[in-house]
Amino acid sequence: MIIEKEEILPGVYRIKFEVPAPYFIEAQPGRFIQLEVSHDPFPVTRRPFTISSVSESSVEIVFEAVGRGTGILAEADAGRSLRLLGPLGSGYRLDPGKWLLIGGGLGAAGFPGLAATVECDLLLLGASSQDKLLTIRETETVTITEDGSSGRKGLITDLLETVHWEAFSSIALCGPIPMMKAVIDMMPVAARAITQVSAEARMGCGWGACEGCSVPKAGGGFLKCCSDGPVFPADSIDWERWEGIH
Ligand SMILES: Cc1cc2nc3c(=O)[nH]c(=O)nc-3n(C[C@H](O)[C@H](O)[C@H](O)COP(=O)(O)OP(=O)(O)OC[C@H]3O[C@@H](n4cnc5c(N)ncnc54)[C@H](O)[C@@H]3O)c2cc1C
Ligand code: FES
Repeated sequence: MIIEKEEILPGVYRIKFEVPAPYFIEAQPGRFIQLEVSHDPFPVTRRPFTISSVSESSVEIVFEAVGRGTGILAEADAGRSLRLLGPLGSGYRLDPGKWLLIGGGLGAAGFPGLAATVECDLLLLGASSQDKLLTIRETETVTITEDGSSGRKGLITDLLETVHWEAFSSIALCGPIPMMKAVIDMMPVAARAITQVSAEARMGCGWGACEGCSVPKAGGGFLKCCSDGPVFPADSIDWERWEGIH
């Protein structure tokens, strides 16, 4: 059941669901839920959303209304019961040491839970403008926007020139595919080897049965975003092929 709902940015909502304890409390950051946005026969499939944060009896998501399913969800009020499946997939490998988090737009939706769990030393956030920029508390954040409405004006890659990559033992990256590929291309090899990316692919079932969520695998073949991921080592993805099919 929806217990809280708030429009945090124009067209971007935070929803908190009550869930039975203790199924979600152990969900490591980066896992996701498949949410039935409506009880009507259409939309047919559930929609995937990264778990933003969890408590003993609640799970929170942050989403942007971009189409039919998310549009319906944006209209749902507190008190509404919706079926959700999860926690699904595998999340971030929570290695000790200092973390660098790099997020593009709504790609940072899963970062609150991650930032609260690991030793997050620096968060770089980029977006087209301030009204697409999420706020993640209690973390040193550097922001950049394409129109200069918050932080520096430019692209997230402009922030990378001053990063001391060797200061971090883990890097988390999430955002649109071209943004993630541009960041990966700028990284030294050693930084790439400690980077985990949270991938998004159109999904059907959400648990490995339909192969609708394929992500090109480095060396050939495909990974299933829903069950092999959605968090992958950056080096396990064939970035050229993945960008090419989008
Ligand atoms: C593992 C995972 C986690 C996700 N987490 C979040 C999240 O935390 N917050 C959030 O806002 N969104 C998230 N998404 C994307 C979200 O699932 C889609 O925006 C949603 O399914 C769109 O449904 P719709 O019916 O509104 O869109 P549709 O009407 O089906 O399509 C509208 C537009 O959205 C695009 N779209 C649809 N699905 C995706 C997708 N999977 N990735 C990128 N673009 C898509 C379509 O290409 C189209 O342009 C996640 C996706 C995955 C796979
Ligand atoms: S969504 Fe069906 S296999 Fe991944």
